[in-house]
Amino acid sequence: MEILTTIEQLRNIRKNITASVGLVPTMGALHDGHISLIKKAREENDIVIVSIFVNPTQFLPGEDLDKYPKKDEADKKICEICKVDYIFMPEISTMYEEDEVLIKAPSKSYVLEGKTRPGHFDGVLQVVLKLFNLTKPTNAYFGKKDAQQLTLIQQMVKNLFLDINIVPCEIVREKDGLALSSRNIYLNEKQRKDALLISKSLYQAASLVGKKERKSKVLKAKMYEIMKDLDVEYIAIVNRDFIQSEEIELKNTIILVVARFGNTRLLDNIWI
Ligand code: PAJ
Repeated sequence: MEILTTIEQLRNIRKNITASVGLVPTMGALHDGHISLIKKAREENDIVIVSIFVNPTQFLPGEDLDKYPKKDEADKKICEICKVDYIFMPEISTMYEEDEVLIKAPSKSYVLEGKTRPGHFDGVLQVVLKLFNLTKPTNAYFGKKDAQQLTLIQQMVKNLFLDINIVPCEIVREKDGLALSSRNIYLNEKQRKDALLISKSLYQAASLVGKKERKSKVLKAKMYEIMKDLDVEYIAIVNRDFIQSEEIELKNTIILVVARFGNTRLLDNIWI
């Protein structure tokens, strides 16, 4: 495994690769969720590149950019064990100049996550496009956990005619159902226990949909009842284009929850 930090190093390596390349973009502090993406990339490609870059442009002022967990040494070990070929770990100044050409995410990026974090997805698309252009991947791996991010990246690939296959990956959970997240470490014992109500409410809603319940109102009411003791920021029931409707499509629906535990926002969803 080789660690690359400059554009020149990456370009020199990339130009000599003719085999398939799998890219796994991350912000580090790797956990089993990231590892599942890396393993899938390892199975499906000749060369695997993992990028580790805490991208400043997707954080809004006052968000946890400075506090974002950093675990470079552990991350390198994990990548080594997963037989990654290259880690790309650039500095901010390597990735960005002042006053750049910007990517503007479409209007569906201003609902849900984009409503509380306006501009967040512009920054995500900006860095992902940079990473795509540098690594020219055959396949790029993204988790369904960040559902809106995944669909916006799929739309960018379509709209900008990028020749890249986006591979959506299932959400990895703890045994008790909590979706893995770098932010779970901020939870105290009680919050960690309460957080289980999020996945529980999602499973209940999915089970109701399995019984042909199509009314968003009924599904949301059930979920709010289960999470009545939590600080729920939103529950949303959308189709794959992130449009909400009163009657859901039985096979094309994503149910999303964001709940707050102190300063920690936990995000989870289920794809039906
Ligand atoms: P990060 O939060 O590090 O996540 C990297 C990838 O891991 C994303 O595609 C995310 O959806 C996936 N992931 C996180 N938790 C997961 C889980 N429990 N199960 C499955 N996949 C999971 O998302 C980002 O970084 C950034 O926005 C990035 C795309 C790297 C751009 O900066």
